[in-house]
Amino acid sequence: MKVNLSRVIHGLMRIKDWKYTTYDLLNLVYKLIDLGVTTFDLADIYGNYDAQEIFGRVLEKAPSLREKIQIISKTGIVLLSDKHPQIYVKHYNTSKKHIIKSVEKTLRDLRTNYIDVLLIHRPDPLMKPDEISEAFEYLKDKGMVLSFGVSNFKHQHMSLFKEKVSEPILYNQVEISLWNVDSLFDGTLDYCQEKDILPMAWSPVAGGRFFKEEDRQEEKRVLRIYNALVEVAKNHSTTPEHVAYAWLYKHPSKIFPVVGSGKFERIKIAVEALDIELDRQDWFYLLKASRGYDVP
Ligand SMILES: NC(=O)c1ccc[n+]([C@@H]2O[C@H](COP(=O)([O-])OP(=O)(O)OC[C@H]3O[C@@H](n4cnc5c(N)ncnc54)[C@H](OP(=O)(O)O)[C@@H]3O)[C@@H](O)[C@H]2O)c1
Repeated sequence: MKVNLSRVIHGLMRIKDWKYTTYDLLNLVYKLIDLGVTTFDLADIYGNYDAQEIFGRVLEKAPSLREKIQIISKTGIVLLSDKHPQIYVKHYNTSKKHIIKSVEKTLRDLRTNYIDVLLIHRPDPLMKPDEISEAFEYLKDKGMVLSFGVSNFKHQHMSLFKEKVSEPILYNQVEISLWNVDSLFDGTLDYCQEKDILPMAWSPVAGGRFFKEEDRQEEKRVLRIYNALVEVAKNHSTTPEHVAYAWLYKHPSKIFPVVGSGKFERIKIAVEALDIELDRQDWFYLLKASRGYDVP
């Protein structure tokens, strides 16, 4: 069964860059909970393997927070890192041993005894569904992980999982934004709808590039998307940032954005945008700006 996640998820991939104190982070988390943003997205590798520990200090300071929030973590990527000098090439590892070791470290770093959602970070060409099943069953039985999903999986990878992995695959986190509309057309979101898999959008505002003058100057496509956002925003008496989220919300697969800003006011925009209803022409106008051509 799916865990009840907040519609807007806060992504913590950049937590180390924010250089916030534990107290700053605690304040941010409290404000987000008040706003209804209760789900936090992490991965074992974020911040050169440090992000989960940074967030863990928040949970250590306020243990009662744990039951008020949901934590997503990911496993399966192995980075080149000073932390692991024996690793000489970035690679994927979805072996039973790696998955279990990674989750054990995640729980230690986060100072918790369970995570709500575990995702396989990327499809691994060497993945063996039997081994993944065994790892998932172990983690479920021990109460270490409540539910499972995948990330960056196309429909054929999800289909393989559905058939061969014993635990149900309930979520798929993929890149979706006006910058990257692939999942709308390559069968990924169709498969999610067919199989009732919850889609999460990473980089929902494309890392903020539409809203940065230098990025707009550097690339014509960024400027084209930004100009369309501005136009649609005018018609709705709102901001281009709000429209970028409203565009995602209109998709029938019910996309949950994973918002990566470290600023409360910017995360709030994603929540406010839930009240904006774009019509079909707005939506296709933005799609045209993204792709550079009309639908056939
Ligand atoms: N599954 C995967 O493979 C995968 C891959 C990448 C990311 N993720 C997850 O998705 C989350 C979100 O990714 P993301 O951070 O790339 O998403 P994002 O929300 O599209 O981008 C956030 C970035 O954009 C900047 N930004 C937002 N609005 C802005 C504005 N109006 N003007 C200027 N800058 C603005 C933010 O800066 P400020 O902080 O200054 O606001 C931040 O650096 C991550 O934290 C992670 O949890 C998952």
